[in-house]
Amino acid sequence: MAQTMQAIRYYQFGDPEVLQLEEAPKPVPKEGEVLIRIAAAGVLPVDWKIRKGLFPMPVRFPVIPGTAFAGVIESAGPGVTGLITGQEVFGRSINGTYAEYTTAPADSVALKPSSIGFAEAATISGGATTAWCAINNAGIKAGDRVFIHGAGGGVGLFAVQFAKWKGAYVIGTASPSNMDFIRSIGVDHAIDYTAGPFEAGLEREADFVLDTVGGATLERSWALIKPGGALLTIAGQPPFERGQQERVRVLRSALASKQDLSDIAELIVKGAVHAQVQALYPLGEAREAHIRSEAGHGRGRIVLATET
Ligand SMILES: NC(=O)c1ccc[n+]([C@@H]2O[C@H](COP(=O)([O-])OP(=O)(O)OC[C@H]3O[C@@H](n4cnc5c(N)ncnc54)[C@H](OP(=O)(O)O)[C@@H]3O)[C@@H](O)[C@H]2O)c1
Repeated sequence: MAQTMQAIRYYQFGDPEVLQLEEAPKPVPKEGEVLIRIAAAGVLPVDWKIRKGLFPMPVRFPVIPGTAFAGVIESAGPGVTGLITGQEVFGRSINGTYAEYTTAPADSVALKPSSIGFAEAATISGGATTAWCAINNAGIKAGDRVFIHGAGGGVGLFAVQFAKWKGAYVIGTASPSNMDFIRSIGVDHAIDYTAGPFEAGLEREADFVLDTVGGATLERSWALIKPGGALLTIAGQPPFERGQQERVRVLRSALASKQDLSDIAELIVKGAVHAQVQALYPLGEAREAHIRSEAGHGRGRIVLATET
């Protein structure tokens, strides 16, 4: 069996041009890990933030970008139970997913139902999972008013649908090109953030604000939240001190469990929630995919597809 694979790698921080398609060693699963032949990898904003050296984490070059994947189990390392060769799976890997293969701990991999395509499944980690943890940790229940910035984005579109599934009233923002889309996924009150102040007339009404944008959007969001309400920003550090001043519960972003992955897949299978692939690129076009992601105005997730 070949000991190498095709992978996107980079050797220094920089522009998309640092991304190269090349031969790389095929990973070997360690104790508790599975080796996955990747069919699709989600392109997350954090992937290009790391590539640019903007993300506060140590990296070891060369880097294979990506964490979100869907694919097929090639083999299982020692000590793995419940996952076997040939099963279709999806989840999260910290070993790079813009490649033909990756390894991941068995507990960050879930079975992919056959009715969910590989590309759709690759939008779950870092999109649906972030939204799922946000809506659950905020304790959203029927009748709550939930305000979601970037409601058409890779995280926002799932947050809208999970909040609706819980019975919340959802207010969402988007640019004009995404207004119809966010209504179609369940936003009750759609706001075009380019048309005027999103907070006008909505002061102190929200039980929960999910900020996916940061900066001035976060700053202006405090005015939206009821005293005792909650806020999660996923576009920066949690503003705990300000939350205390505003009497707002500031949440932290959380990592999803294997059970969370399975619960999300079940909702997609039932048709309660829909994944959205914005664009599919072949693995070799990772540069183009990063350029598109960096533009920051997508509808759903960009996905890299590997020939299998
Ligand atoms: N901490 C975590 O766990 C975590 C996890 C996932 C993502 N994130 C971060 O969260 C952010 C969003 O991620 P994503 O995957 O959802 O990104 P994405 O798929 O690129 O979507 C971004 C969305 O933001 C919207 N947008 C841009 N400017 C806006 C503005 N001023 N007001 C309202 N909406 C605006 C865009 O909509 P329009 O096209 O309509 O403008 C687009 O749909 C990124 O910074 C990412 O790194 C953090």
